[in-house]
Amino acid sequence: MHQAVPPPQRGATYSGYRTRRTPDHDTTLTHVGPGTPMGELMRRYWQPIARSADLGKRPLRLTILGEDLVLFRDGSGRLGLMHRHCTHRGAGLELGRIVERGIQCSLHGWWFDVDGTVLDTPAEPKNSPLVKTTTQGAYPVQETAGLIFAYLGPPEHQPAFPNLDAFQLPGTELVSYSLHYPCNWLQVHENLMDPLHAVFLHTRMGSTQITDAWGEMPITEYGELGDRMYYLTSRRFGDNVWVRFNEVSVPNFGQVAGFWQDGAHELLFQRIAATRWTVPHDDTSCTIFGVRHFSEDVEGPKGLGDRNRVGRDSLDVYGQSHGGRTLEQMQDDPGDWEAIVSMGSVAVHSAEHRGTSDVGVVRLRRQLRRYADELQAGAALGPHRMAAADGIVPTWTSNTVLRIPPRSDCPDDELLRQVGRAVRDAVLAADELAGQARIDAIHARLRAAAHELCAPRTLKSENPLG
Ligand SMILES: [Fe+2]
Repeated sequence: MHQAVPPPQRGATYSGYRTRRTPDHDTTLTHVGPGTPMGELMRRYWQPIARSADLGKRPLRLTILGEDLVLFRDGSGRLGLMHRHCTHRGAGLELGRIVERGIQCSLHGWWFDVDGTVLDTPAEPKNSPLVKTTTQGAYPVQETAGLIFAYLGPPEHQPAFPNLDAFQLPGTELVSYSLHYPCNWLQVHENLMDPLHAVFLHTRMGSTQITDAWGEMPITEYGELGDRMYYLTSRRFGDNVWVRFNEVSVPNFGQVAGFWQDGAHELLFQRIAATRWTVPHDDTSCTIFGVRHFSEDVEGPKGLGDRNRVGRDSLDVYGQSHGGRTLEQMQDDPGDWEAIVSMGSVAVHSAEHRGTSDVGVVRLRRQLRRYADELQAGAALGPHRMAAADGIVPTWTSNTVLRIPPRSDCPDDELLRQVGRAVRDAVLAADELAGQARIDAIHARLRAAAHELCAPRTLKSENPLG
């Protein structure tokens, strides 16, 4: 029988014995198998499961949300995603033979269309009822921007495929990538709501992994609207203020704005560097499937991005995968990948000591728990701002740099906060618009906000969507 160890006294030294971690992780948020709260929530959304470039002539064996699957493209070019084990006797369909229409199991030739319909059972008599009474479990699949997406949830709740503005930005080349992590999905995803780690991990604690500007301590602002959540970071560079506006969405979607900032040049609503989903294979491994956006607008004149380094387990930002670095290099200059993996196979929330730098992470966990609990309680999910049935989903992710010199009548931290909120308000106010009209409206509001915030009086926040 375990003996309870009393907690250490406040401020006690050499307290290791009394502060040992207990491996009781938060199963509601971290477990993703069939029937689990988070697993069922994830199954209500389209999820990327592979890069198109990784699917060759042979079936690809995958584990997604704890399910063994195979993905293939049949002879007529259609994608199929099925339970790995043949419904006949369970042989793995990664050994199957891809045919013009669907796939055949190698063991007895059972033949399945991409939707799981049994087309033939050639080892059975001609009039065998098995053709009509059996089916191979299959899931709907869609392909866009070099990624293959699947919907693993109940057919009656299948949402429209999210039609993101991010995939339709003019003058932008999209390059898909994947980053495998041998740990739970949540600690990978919630890194997106932890903007302060960039100051330390990516800048002050080792080398400058992105640009020096990231080492400046920002004023942060967090918020949420329905199933979407965002943060803004505002940093001062001389007379300029750089505001970075990033977003995540229930359950595992996120975007990050352009990377290569120096705060030196005015920018209005510069868009996205990466759009990504953190997709669990099981409870202790996941892959970020994403799309890197290359445009002159986002990469800037210095051209620090490198599309040749974007692909399978590779991104053109330091420390995003295990590839190409020794343990010693990771210890000397750790990046996101090793920092996140080092938390353990499943991060133990109950052993954390969270502070104000963790507000985004805490809010993200709270939002995910609310959605998972509501779904378990039988509530309809919604509103789904990311799953608009018609029209294009306007995402917010962007960088803005405005010329707003420090003011004698307002503490600079407060001014930075107001600039952040003004940028948020300008972007959110244009959600009903699309294309160039949206960009023009945001630019006009940003210019007006810069003008007002330079004046010696305070601007009231006016978030039009609450
Ligand atoms: Fe990071």
